[in-house]
Amino acid sequence: MEAQKTFYRDTWAEIDLDSISKNVTAVKGRLPQDVNLIAVVKANAYGHGDVQVAKAALEAGADFLAVAFLDEAIALRNKGITVPILVLGASRPEDVQTAAELNITLTIFQKEWLERAKNYLPDDAKLKLHVKVDSGMGRIGVRNSEELTIIEKMIEEDHRLIFEGIFTHFATADELDTTYFQKQLAFFKEMLSTLSKKPKYIHSSNSAATIRFKEAYFNTCRLGIAMYGLTPSPEMEREIPFPLFEAFSLKTRLVNVKKLHKGDKVSYGATYESEGEEWIGTLPIGYADGWIRKLSGQEVLVNGERAPIVGRICMDQCMIKLPAFYPVGTEVTLIGRQNEQFISVNEIAKKLETINYEIPCIITSRVPRVYKKDEKIMDIKNDLLHP
Ligand SMILES: Cc1ncc(COP(=O)(O)O)c(C=O)c1O
Repeated sequence: MEAQKTFYRDTWAEIDLDSISKNVTAVKGRLPQDVNLIAVVKANAYGHGDVQVAKAALEAGADFLAVAFLDEAIALRNKGITVPILVLGASRPEDVQTAAELNITLTIFQKEWLERAKNYLPDDAKLKLHVKVDSGMGRIGVRNSEELTIIEKMIEEDHRLIFEGIFTHFATADELDTTYFQKQLAFFKEMLSTLSKKPKYIHSSNSAATIRFKEAYFNTCRLGIAMYGLTPSPEMEREIPFPLFEAFSLKTRLVNVKKLHKGDKVSYGATYESEGEEWIGTLPIGYADGWIRKLSGQEVLVNGERAPIVGRICMDQCMIKLPAFYPVGTEVTLIGRQNEQFISVNEIAKKLETINYEIPCIITSRVPRVYKKDEKIMDIKNDLLHP
């Protein structure tokens, strides 16, 4: 595989950009024409790769991007992304000049922050702001209309500040019981009604709400997890009226294959013992890659068949019990499809007793990302050799 030229260990994550495009196109196609779509590419696009996902999402119809903090937005600007970028989390008041210079939109939710930020903005600066309302998530956001009114006035009175948007975030949009979601929506609407002038962008919906609740569109939706082809929660699996395509897969190759005899042991602690003659393969992936020790016992795919990880997972390697002899170099899929078999991100999340969001995020940057489009490799990112 061409990837050998840019990385030297046979372990890689494959990102299918066609899946990103298909997911964005499907969601965008369901939204009314006047509703904007923000592609959420924080955390290196949920571990998939910020700039590659951003470009695929924008090409498929996303209107702008959102990240968690200013460094992530600057990273995208450094990689040539010129479309609007919203920083969803808190930024320092001292950094507003940088944001303004790079045309990065910041989130604001405290009047004290505004007062301090004004000291760091040159007279000719233009800083776009979205006000965050805490309607029940309890994380960041303005919690009452009095403070919202003060913030609106402060922005209005300063020619350097642009009140571009207002938004909130739902805590339970992915749950079947919609009571708390409705409460948050009602609170947000109440807050909106106190504004003297509505800003250009009003948004509240994450993937779950974008898929389920037209009444929460306002004029913009923020799409994260569904763009990556993952369901916002197991409960929602049956509620999604169109197919989602998983973009992330994880692959490696056998680097050693040996026959064990009854009583032979495998890995630290010698916890696995061969019951008879067994073919054991070694994979060059371990917990330092995010393939954590709790995944011992998890199955992987070899030649379209499931094979369990045996013994403890080491920092850089782990062992599998092969269904038969396979030669060194045989491709092994840890997440993704091989013939008729599929190991989904959800399967790994279930094994780790966590949510699917966490899985691609925890596969570390030590694992190169190989980008595919039309079945062909179109880019490779190896942070070790090219940070
Ligand atoms: C403020 C905000 N908006 C949107 C999203 C995207 O959510 P999802 O990935 O569920 O679509 C997130 C993700 O955590 C978020 O924090």
